[in-house]
Parts: sequence; C-alpha cells; structure tokens
Amino acid sequence: MSRSKVDVVLGAFYGDEGKGKIIDYLSTNADISIRCTGGNNAGHTIEVNGEKFAFHLIPSGVLNKGTLAVIGNGVVIDPKVLIEEINNLKEHGYSVDNLRISDKAHVIMPYHIAMDKMLEENRGNNKIGTTCRGIGPTYCDKYERSGIRVQDFIRPRFADLVRTNVANKNKIFKAFGYPEMDAEAIIKEYTEYAEIIKPYVVDTVVLLHNAMNENKKLLCEGAQATLLDIDFGSYPFVTSSNPSLGGICTGSGISPKDVGEVYGVIKAYSSRVGAGPYITEQNNEIGDMIRELGHEYGTTTKRPRRCGWLDLVALKYAVMLNGITGIAINHLDTIGKLDKIQLCVAYNHKGKITTDFSTTPEYLENCEAVYEEFDGNFGDISNIKKREDLPENAKKYLARIEEIAGAPIKFIGTGAGRENLIVC
Ligand code: GDP
Ligand code: IMO
Ligand code: MG
Repeated sequence: MSRSKVDVVLGAFYGDEGKGKIIDYLSTNADISIRCTGGNNAGHTIEVNGEKFAFHLIPSGVLNKGTLAVIGNGVVIDPKVLIEEINNLKEHGYSVDNLRISDKAHVIMPYHIAMDKMLEENRGNNKIGTTCRGIGPTYCDKYERSGIRVQDFIRPRFADLVRTNVANKNKIFKAFGYPEMDAEAIIKEYTEYAEIIKPYVVDTVVLLHNAMNENKKLLCEGAQATLLDIDFGSYPFVTSSNPSLGGICTGSGISPKDVGEVYGVIKAYSSRVGAGPYITEQNNEIGDMIRELGHEYGTTTKRPRRCGWLDLVALKYAVMLNGITGIAINHLDTIGKLDKIQLCVAYNHKGKITTDFSTTPEYLENCEAVYEEFDGNFGDISNIKKREDLPENAKKYLARIEEIAGAPIKFIGTGAGRENLIVC
C-alpha cells in the first residue's frame, strides 16, 4: 500500500488568520489532525450551526467524529487548560476518546506562568505583549533540559522534578521580589491532573508513521504564524517556537519528505496582537473600522487586535519560507464592506521599490508600504459557492493577490460559519 502525504495548515502572517476554520473543513476528510507547536497562546475559532468553539490545545479536527486528534511533541501543555477543554467538549456532546497526547510534549507549570508575567512586567517600555500563558519560560526549560515532559508528569519522578525546579525558580522570584511557590501544593494539585491526562498519553511519533504507512490522511494544524516564528519573525516580538513549516515537522516527528499540500492562511486584511513592527497597520479610523467589522478581539486574551491592510510583501516571504502550495484567504466578506481597499504590493526602501521582506529591524524601519487601490462594496457574498460567481471587484482583488504572492488561492472565507467557504 502506498504511504500517504501529510497536509499542513499554517498561519502566514501574525496569527488569527482563521486557521481553525480551514482545519475544520479539511478535517472532514482527515483520519488524524495534529497540533505541533505552541500551547494555549493559540485560540482557534470554529462556528458550527451558530455555536462558537475556541480551541487552545486540542486540535480543532476533534469536532469531526472519525478524526483522531493528536497533540504532538512540539506543543507545550497547560494541563489545567487541557482538562477544561476536554470537559467543555464533553458538555457539548463531543467525544474525546480520540484524543492522543505525545509523551514528549512539555508541561506548562504554575512557575512558568508566574515567570512569564514577571518578565513581561519587568520589560517596562519594551513589552512583547505575550499572552502570559507561560509559553516562553516553558520552552526555555525545554531547551535548558530542566523541563517536565508529559512522560515525567504521569510518573512518580514528577514530584522530585517539581521540587528541584521550584527550588531554583524560587531563587529568581525572591531576587525579583515576587512571591515564592510551594512545591508540595503544586505536586498535590498537578498529580490529580496527571491522572486525568494519563489515559491519552502515547508515543505519537510511532502512531503517526504507522498511520502514514497505512495510507491514512493526516492534517497538521499550525498555531501562531510565520511572522511570529522565533527564527523568521520580528524577534524579539515573536513567540518562543517555530510555527513555520520546519517547526511543524520537528513538533510532530513528520519528515519534510512526507509533507504534501501546505496551505498558508491569511485574511483579506491583516491583524496583529502584541507589540512589534507592522508596516501596513492602520492605527486610525480605518483600522478601527476593520476591527469592528471583523470582530477583531483576541480569542485567547480578548485584547483588541491591531488592524491594517493586507501586506503581499510579507505574504510572499511566508510563501517562500513554508513552500506554501495554496492560499486560504478569510474575511473576504469583511473587507468587501469597505468602499475602497488598499493592497500593499511592494515596499519603498530608502527610495528603492522592492518586494523583498526581512525582519531585520534596520530594514523594516526604513520601509514604507506601496499601495494599490481596489474598489470594495462586494455586497453579500456569504452564500456564494464558486469563485467565478463573486462580484468583479472581489475577483480583481483576489487575482492581484495571487499574482504577487506566487501561490494559487485554494479557499475563500466569506463568513465565520462552517458553510461560508468557497473551495476553489
Ligand atoms: P486562528 O487562530 O487562525 O484559528 O483564528 P481566530 O479564530 O483567532 O480568529 C479568526 C476569527 O475570524 C474567528 O472569530 C473566526 O470565526 C473568524 N472568521 C474566520 N474566517 C472568517 C471569514 O471568512 N469571515 C468572517 N467574517 N469571519 C471569519
Ligand atoms: P493563533 O494560533 C496571535 C503573540 C502574542 C505576543 C507574542 C508572544 O490563535 O493564531 P507568547 O504568549 O506566545 O509568548 O506571546 O505572540 N501570539 C499570538 N498572536 N495569534 C496567536 O495564536 C498567538 N500566539 C501568540 O500576542 O505578541
Ligand atoms: Mg487565534
């Protein structure tokens, strides 16, 4: 039997592009849906029959009855949040029997969350605007080799690891004048969580490769996005993992050779939460209008998102870095409510027009967006099912995006609901 390829859905900009919605569609044909990076800094929204689900850790594909939902080794897991998510799904009548958690994923502990908050508070005017979910400090411990993996978490050695880590962290908390933590209280509380999580824990690498050998359909659900990548994003205003394609492979154990389609998700405009450069940001009434029309408030932190025009220079960079084979563009309905739309087609770097993107601050600081103007007023497109049936103004806008980005558009989001999607 032939071995299957793994399709990937990832964010091409600064996150919140509507990855959840595309995953939801694709997972109807998937045997396994996999989260590979990040933790509960992610918030992936799916609207089914008017009901909203926000996924933070469990792959959104879990809503599809036959799909196995895998949390891969590259994910950092807050057990409390995971259990809340499991319970919420059960309350809504969804089974979580098909959840599998990697024994190699790392656990977010209370001292990681406290450390994230403490470091952010002490950054003064240079705040990153993290989600304060303990993501950065957990990855720090992973790479420093003092992290607690899921396989440690569910075994008796957990207690000793917590005692050692808490003793070390307390020295830092004390130096900063922050409250120290009680190792024994943490052990007691978290041992109860470990019991709940234990039945779901397996070696997911073996599971995924066996499934590929059986020609099963696998789908990776990217979290965060390319411009938040620790290596390729606007460092230090990034997350602490590699949400781009390389991180998806190491965060799951899937070989790059096994990757099939790579869908890069964008919105028909752009948004960013947290600090950092953002060339096409509209910190004015246009940005405010986009925020209200698109309901751009964080799924995880409820923060208002910074909004602006779509940046094709950044998109071209994401296409290049991830080998994107298809673009999914959401919120075409939202941008179509404006009279006039600006599309960033190039940068003006010290008088030179270029489509080269770089996250080097000295470069970005000297770039200005070059815009082309498009007519909006698309009308109600929410029920259109074919790209050719879209109004002319929308078609012109999409064609220009494809032309510059260098990848075809495969999905068009025309509303928040599961049914508001054009599959090209
Ligand atoms: P993710 O993190 O990439 O999964 O995206 P989020 O869920 O954080 O944010 C995307 C938001 O846009 C959610 O509220 C979705 O319900 C909504 N959404 C997704 N696609 C569309 C679309 O095509 N049109 C509209 N109006 N809303 C959309
Ligand atoms: P999804 O998967 C948007 C941002 C934070 C902050 C920076 C670092 O829903 O697209 P962290 O807590 O990760 O250390 O914060 O990264 N960030 C996101 N922004 N969507 C996300 O996930 C994000 N995950 C992290 O706002 O600027
Ligand atoms: Mg989100």
